Parts: sequence; C-alpha cells; structure tokens
Amino acid sequence: MNYNLEFRGDLNKVKNLNDLEKLRLEYFGSQGKITQLTKSLKSLSPEEKKEAGRKINRLKNEIELAFSQKQQEVADRNDSGWIDVTAPGIKPREGHLHIVSLAIEEITRIFEKIGFTRVRYPEVEWEWYAFESLNMPPNHPARDDFETFFVDQEPSSQYGKIVLSPHTSSGQVREMERLHQPPIRMINIAKCYRPNWDVSHVPMFHQFEGLVVDRGINITHLKGTMDYFAKQFFGPNRKTRLRPFHFQFTEPSFEVDITCGVCLGTAKLADGSRCRFCKEGWLELGGSGMVHPNVLKAGKIDAQKYTGFAFGWGIERTYMMKSGTKLDDIRLLYSNDIRFLEQF
Ligand code: DAH
Repeated sequence: MNYNLEFRGDLNKVKNLNDLEKLRLEYFGSQGKITQLTKSLKSLSPEEKKEAGRKINRLKNEIELAFSQKQQEVADRNDSGWIDVTAPGIKPREGHLHIVSLAIEEITRIFEKIGFTRVRYPEVEWEWYAFESLNMPPNHPARDDFETFFVDQEPSSQYGKIVLSPHTSSGQVREMERLHQPPIRMINIAKCYRPNWDVSHVPMFHQFEGLVVDRGINITHLKGTMDYFAKQFFGPNRKTRLRPFHFQFTEPSFEVDITCGVCLGTAKLADGSRCRFCKEGWLELGGSGMVHPNVLKAGKIDAQKYTGFAFGWGIERTYMMKSGTKLDDIRLLYSNDIRFLEQF
C-alpha cells in the first residue's frame, strides 16, 4: 500500500472553495483515497494494521492541515466564487453638503416662508451698484470700510470701475431696477470679496442681504423680521436688539445683536462665573437699517411714497454662532480638510 499519497500537486491547482470541496471528496468521500486506505486495513494482520493505521493517521492529519490552510488562503483571496447573500453589504461613504451651502439653504427657506424671494446678482459688479447707488459718492471715506478688489478693465463713464462685489448690498438697487415697483421682498445670498486673509477673514465669503420696500414700512417691521429670523434659525428662546450704528445706505442704521446661546443673555454661567462667549449677554449679528431715501432714488422708487428696511450679514459668522462652534481660524471652512468638514 502506498501511504505517501502525493496530494500537494492537486491542492496547488485549487483556485476556489468549490475546487477545494471537490478535492476533499476525492480524499475523504465514501470512495475517497483516504477512505480506501482505511478500508484496506481490514485485510492486514494485527501487526501490520497497527503500523499502517499509524501511517494513515499521520497522512490524514497532514492532508487535513494542508486543506484548512488552503481554505484560509482562498477565502482571503476572496475569489471563492461564492457569494454569501446574507452577509451585510459594504456601505459606501456618504458625503453631505458643505456647511456654508447648508446654511444658505436654511436661511433661504426661513425667509421664503415670510414671502421673500431669493435672488442673485453679479459678483463681478460695477462700482456704481456697490457704492454710488448706496449713497457713497466717489472718494467718499465710507468706501474705505469695504476694502475692494478692482478688476483691471476699462471703466464705464456711467458705472465706474469694475469690482468684485465687496457686499451683497450691491443687489439692492439691482432688485429695485428689476421690479420697477414695490412691494420688494428680496433675499440676496452671494459670495463677496475683500482682500483680507487672517484667522477671522477669508478673501471670499458669503453674505445674505434682505431688502423690503413698500408703503408704510417702519422699524417695527425690521425688528419683527429680525426676531422671526433669530427664533427660526437659532431657537425659540433667542431675542434680538437693535443697537444704533452708522451706514451710508441706511438711516437710521443699526447693528443687530442676539442674546448669547450659552448664557441666554444673562452674561453669567450656571456656576456664577462670567460668560466667556459673549459681550454682556449679547452677540453681534450684523448691519441693518431703514433704506436711505437716496438709495430709493437711485433705484427710481418714489421716496415720498415708499419706505424700506435692509439688513446684511455674513453667512460664515452667523452659522458659526448657531452651531456654537468657536472656530479659532475661519480659514478651516475652505481648507477642504475632510476631518474638519465631517464634524458638521
Ligand atoms: N453691506 C454691509 C457690510 O457689508 C452690511 C449692511 C449693513 C447691509 C446695513 C445692509 C444694511 O443692508 O442695512 O458690512
């Protein structure tokens, strides 16, 4: 009897679990080679049986070990030809919109609910829409507040130089020109550009600008709209206040503050210590005011008949205030680092 079965050649040809199963039958099935050997023991003398039995056992163990190694090997290679339909699938990684896009969508929905229409105006804009039409004549010092990128192009005698719009207020008179007549309820959300680059500035950022013009519009409408937005966007227990300020395109002008989300306007934390997140319980949201008559005139709207209010805030800043995220470097928003973006 041959107790030195050469099985390794067969095993080397095995490519998948199916092949391995077939080979297993060839050795261990009822007609298999090992089974035959075991059966052949019957015809031997007790002495021979002992010796042969030992050899067969050793062979069996050797083959079994080689088979289980092979099984592991083809399973690892994962080309077994088997599909386990009950195994859980591999989930593709799911992305989401950038936080600024999410904020834009949310802000748009909030203002649409109270009848505002989302509009967009050119980012590459005439100086006239960015400044003159907003009551800032050429060389007016207020222009310095809006550091501006100028485009190296022939200026227009009517509209001046070409700029990258430094604020969404440039959409105000464009909207008046589009509609010709009030009522106007616009929400203009766009990219804005200013040549700044540091921990709290990026040269391209976003603003949302509201403009309402109609008969009898007054400060209470402005205040009501601010409160509505604050409650929708930040939560029902937040309040706003209007703090006197100056802008050329509004009169009177205000900065809008909102009660701090951490101390809820009390300026104190639960342990009695001073709140570190705000100034005396308030956080600054952005500018607003009653539309200056000169701006209405620039948009050919009768300033005797109509009044309006406007507001313009930064999206990045407003969103960071909502999430309570204290970003020590706003540039992270645009660094495309997935480890950062995934957290929102
Ligand atoms: N355009 C101003 C800025 O970028 C913000 C602003 C202030 C917009 C007052 C307004 C407003 O509509 O009424 O700083």
